[in-house]
Amino acid sequence: MTVKKRSVASSAAASRRQIPAFVSKFVISLLIIFCFVAFCGLFSQFKLQSSSLPTGFYFDDFRLHDYYNPVKKIAFLFLVRDNLPLDFLWHNFFKNADPENFTIYIHSKPGFVFDESVTRSVFFYNRQLENSVEVGWGKPTMIEAEKLLFKAALDDPSNQIFVLLSDSCVPLYDFSHIYTYLMSSPRSFVDGFIDFKENRYNPEMSPDIPEDKWRKGSQWITLARKHAEMVAYDHVVFPIFEKHCKRRPLLDLSRGNESLKEQQQHNCIPDEHYVPTLLSMRGVEDELERRTLTYSLWNQSTETMNTQAWHPVTFGYASASQKHIQDIKDIDHIYFESENRTEWCGTKSSSGSCYLFARKFSRGAAMRLLTNGVVGPYDPNTMFQDLT
Ligand SMILES: *[C@@H]1O[C@H](CO)[C@@H](O)[C@H](O)[C@H]1NC(C)=O
Ligand SMILES: *[C@@H]1O[C@H](CO)[C@@H](O)[C@H](O)[C@H]1NC(C)=O
Ligand SMILES: *[C@@H]1O[C@H](CO)[C@@H](O)[C@H](O)[C@H]1NC(C)=O
Ligand SMILES: *[C@@H]1O[C@H](CO)[C@@H](O)[C@H](O)[C@H]1NC(C)=O
Repeated sequence: MTVKKRSVASSAAASRRQIPAFVSKFVISLLIIFCFVAFCGLFSQFKLQSSSLPTGFYFDDFRLHDYYNPVKKIAFLFLVRDNLPLDFLWHNFFKNADPENFTIYIHSKPGFVFDESVTRSVFFYNRQLENSVEVGWGKPTMIEAEKLLFKAALDDPSNQIFVLLSDSCVPLYDFSHIYTYLMSSPRSFVDGFIDFKENRYNPEMSPDIPEDKWRKGSQWITLARKHAEMVAYDHVVFPIFEKHCKRRPLLDLSRGNESLKEQQQHNCIPDEHYVPTLLSMRGVEDELERRTLTYSLWNQSTETMNTQAWHPVTFGYASASQKHIQDIKDIDHIYFESENRTEWCGTKSSSGSCYLFARKFSRGAAMRLLTNGVVGPYDPNTMFQDLT
C-alpha cells in the first residue's frame, strides 16, 4: 500500500515538477504559432495591397517625404520649346512675390541655357534642367520631360505644390492670390474624364491599364507633393504608354502607301491621358479637383476640326482686354458633357473662380496683362532692376 501510495505520491511529485516545463513549452509553442500567424497576416495584407496595384508602385511608397517642413513653396515647372517668350510678364509676377515662397524649373531643349543672352529676367538664370530630353510634340518624350521636371522639383522638400506651365501660359492674378488659392487645398488639380468619343484607348494596353481606368484631360496640371511623387517615380505605366500610346501622323499623300499604312495605327495623344489615367489607376481620384487651373479656348469650327489639327486659340493683344480677362476669371464651374458632370470651383477660402492661369497668349496679349496690372504693380522704369 505504502509503496503504491509512495509511487502515486512520487508520480504526483514528478508531474508537479513537470508542469512548469510543460507550461513553458506550451507558451513558447503558442508564441511561435502567434508570431507565425501574425507574420502571415501581415504578409497577406501586403500581398493584397501590392496585388491590387501593378508591381513597382509598391516600392515608391516607402520614400521618406512627409517630414516636417515649415516653408511651403510652389514649384513653377515650365515645359518649353526653347526660350520663354513671356518672361517679362512672369518676371513681374515673381518680383511681386516673396522669394521664399516659390522655386522655378525649366525643361527646354537639350543644351539650351537660360542666361543673359536669352532672357533679361534673373529669375530664370540657370533654372533649366541639365538632363533634358528632345521632346516631340504629342510623343511620349513629352511625358518624359514632365516627369523630369517633377523629379527635379521633388528634390527640394519645401516644394509642396507643383504647377506645370507651357511657354504660352500666363498668370491671371498676382502671386499672393495664387499662393493663397493653392495652399488652401490639399488637393491636386487634374482634369480627368471618361472619353466616349475618341477611341484613344489601345486594347493592347489591357490588362496592364484596365479600360475602365482610362482617362482624358488637360496636360496642364497642378499637383500636390504626394501625387507629384506618383508621377515622377512611376516606372510601370509609363513604359506601356511608350509602347502603345502614339500620335498618328497626319495623312501625307505625297508619301504614298507608307502614309496610308500609318493611318491604321492606333491614335493616342500621350500627354492628354498619362497623368489622369495613372492617378485613376492608383485610386486617388477622390483626392483630386477634377479640372485644370489653366484656361484655354478651343476653336470648334468645323473647318479647324477637319484639319485634324486641334489647337487652342491664341490670344492676341485685342483679345486680352480687361473685360475679356474678367470674363475668364468669372467662370465658376465647368461642365463635362461626356459624363454629365459639373465641377463647381469654390475651394475653402477662394472666391470660386476656376482658373488661375490661361493659354495661349502672344507677347502682345501678355504685355497688355502686364500694363493692366494683372500680376501686380508694374513700373516700366524699374521693370528688370532693383531686385534684391
Ligand atoms: C509666403 O508664405 C508665407 C508662409 O506660408 C505666407 O504667410 C505669405 O503670405 C506668403 N507670401 C506671399 C506673397 O504669398
Ligand atoms: C501601293 O499599294 C498598291 C496596292 O496595295 C500597290 O499596287 C502599289 O504598287 C503600291 N505603291 C507603292 C509605291 O508601293
Ligand atoms: C476658328 O477657326 C476658323 C477657321 O480656321 C477661323 O476662321 C476663326 O477665326 C477661328 N476662331 C477663333 C476664335 O480664332
Ligand atoms: C444630367 O444630370 C442631371 C442631374 O444630375 C439630370 O437631371 C439630367 O437628366 C442628366 N442629363 C443627361 C443627358 O443625362
